[in-house]
Amino acid sequence: MRRAQITGWGGCAPPTVLANADLEQIMDTTDEWISSRSGIKERRISHTDNTELGRVAAERALAAAGLRPGDIELIIYATLTPDMLVPSASGVLQSKLGADGCAAFDLNAACSGFVYGVTAASSLITTGAYDRVLVVGAERLSRWMDYSDRATSVLFGDGAGAVVMEANDGDAGVLATTLGNNGSWGDSLTVPGSGSSVSFVDAQRDHSQNALVMDGQDIFKKAVSHMAAAATEVLEKAGMTVADVDLVVPHQANQRIMEAVARRLRLSETQLFSNIESYGNT
Ligand SMILES: CC(C)(COP(=O)(O)OP(=O)(O)OC[C@H]1O[C@@H](n2cnc3c(N)ncnc32)[C@H](O)[C@@H]1OP(=O)(O)O)[C@@H](O)C(=O)NCCC(=O)NCCS
Repeated sequence: MRRAQITGWGGCAPPTVLANADLEQIMDTTDEWISSRSGIKERRISHTDNTELGRVAAERALAAAGLRPGDIELIIYATLTPDMLVPSASGVLQSKLGADGCAAFDLNAACSGFVYGVTAASSLITTGAYDRVLVVGAERLSRWMDYSDRATSVLFGDGAGAVVMEANDGDAGVLATTLGNNGSWGDSLTVPGSGSSVSFVDAQRDHSQNALVMDGQDIFKKAVSHMAAAATEVLEKAGMTVADVDLVVPHQANQRIMEAVARRLRLSETQLFSNIESYGNT
């Protein structure tokens, strides 16, 4: 059976560290509050473009797969913080990699972007449309932080990850995927001035519209129940149980969200991956 296998992976965490102690200097917060509510101790802040983080991650993934940029047939770039709307982040990355000519598109599914990207790549590989796809998930969320909004800005950081996915006729590869969305909940996480519904002039006048606004408690509750339900569904599709899984790598939004999901799924401590302490929500 033709499957899509991850054959290379790479990441890029920008070197600048913004620690909770630094945030204590600029807002009314404490290391104790941030780490007890979210598990985050520090996050990375990028001094360079989103697509630069993406380029480093992509080059590392290509090197790990033993491929050259010209071997890639499709680039999927998952982000909600592209350098700009046009040209696309996937196109900018394609140019930086020297991979002109292959297909390339951006995908905006916020926190779920990488999972959507891997699912799209896997589907396009198993249908036979492509043999080698590069999937990048990169965010420069620090650019949309209002550091006077302490409930939101302490959570987010910058970084990128990339995988190369290749067709494989053996057993290895993606076994099952599941996706879902509830568009009517969109107001819980929004950057109102980031698109065409606000004119350029109004966005310039009112900078508050260019920051990420979040209803943290609402997202918390929905994330726990829906992440657990999605994990259960994908295990069923694959004909597996939690006992068959060595490691669960959830979206790193909040340590308490991950632990609540782990409790619902009855995961052991060693089955849950977490690096949120060092990177925050990227
Ligand atoms: C944001 C989040 C950490 C807040 O935790 P919480 O336990 O729900 O905290 P609350 O929002 O109830 O706030 C409790 C109090 O802490 C205060 N507070 C908020 N941020 C604070 C900060 N950085 N430092 C100190 N106090 C803070 C609030 O003002 C509130 O004070 P009040 O009770 O006097 O009004 C949590 O809801 C969360 O992580 N949600 C998910 C967010 C998420 O995943 N978003 C990304 C999606 S990609």
